[in-house]
Amino acid sequence: CQEEALRKRIVLLGMPGAGKGTHSAKMLARFCMCHLSTGDLLREEVRSGSEFGKKLKGIMERGELIEDEVMCNLIKQQLAKPACANGAILDGFPRTIPQAEKLDQILKQSGQSIDQAIFMNVREQVVVDRLGGRWTHLNSGRTYHYKFNPPKVHGVDDITGEPLVQREDDKEATIRNRLNVYQNKTSPIIDYYRKKGILFEVNAERPVNDIWKDIKTIVKTK
Ligand code: AP5
Repeated sequence: CQEEALRKRIVLLGMPGAGKGTHSAKMLARFCMCHLSTGDLLREEVRSGSEFGKKLKGIMERGELIEDEVMCNLIKQQLAKPACANGAILDGFPRTIPQAEKLDQILKQSGQSIDQAIFMNVREQVVVDRLGGRWTHLNSGRTYHYKFNPPKVHGVDDITGEPLVQREDDKEATIRNRLNVYQNKTSPIIDYYRKKGILFEVNAERPVNDIWKDIKTIVKTK
């Protein structure tokens, strides 16, 4: 990372495809903090071939959510790791009001709290186009888009040279289900953080560099 530790706990909120992963990677390269992507952690478990991973696979391929208790235990373990002592970006967690409440309790036990929730606001049609063209590097979670953000060489990760794949849950029917789940279960979290006075909204339909400029300003100055 290029700058010193921010010691902030930041939640990135937004629909599937809003750009949470894309901007987490930028934040991580710039600021010294850990990146907790629950989606990446779950996909890693699926790839391990464990019994638990086999259960997760079906749920994720249908675009449904994993139980709150499982997710809260996972995030609690991750937040306790030394890498998160200098701050954390939470990408994909919390996703329900019970998860948001539990996160506050977990952080409170060590005298911490969420400092900022950045809401990346986009319309549904925009994310359907984005997810349909997304290519992912599984080991790092880095994402590309065949049109909006292509890799230097087609089908290959810029950094490792390894192959890129399309995520199983980026098929159109699953995308629709993920968007329904987002509207019903996740979007109420926006108000949860707004009421706490820590919500920052960003128009996430613009080019990545413009969005990144806003996120940098929010993270550094507020
Ligand atoms: P998860 O991996 O968290 O998926 P998600 O929230 O659906 O988010 P995505 O990774 O799809 O999108 P993103 O916002 O990161 O967009 P990206 O930057 O890649 O979760 C997957 C599953 O795991 C869930 O469905 C659930 O089953 C389970 N799960 C995870 N967390 C859970 C929890 N807490 N509780 C219960 N279950 C949980 O960008 C998308 C594409 O657009 C890319 O191709 C990118 O290059 C492109 N792009 C990005 N920004 C722009 C831009 N500004 N302009 C043009 N293109 C852009």
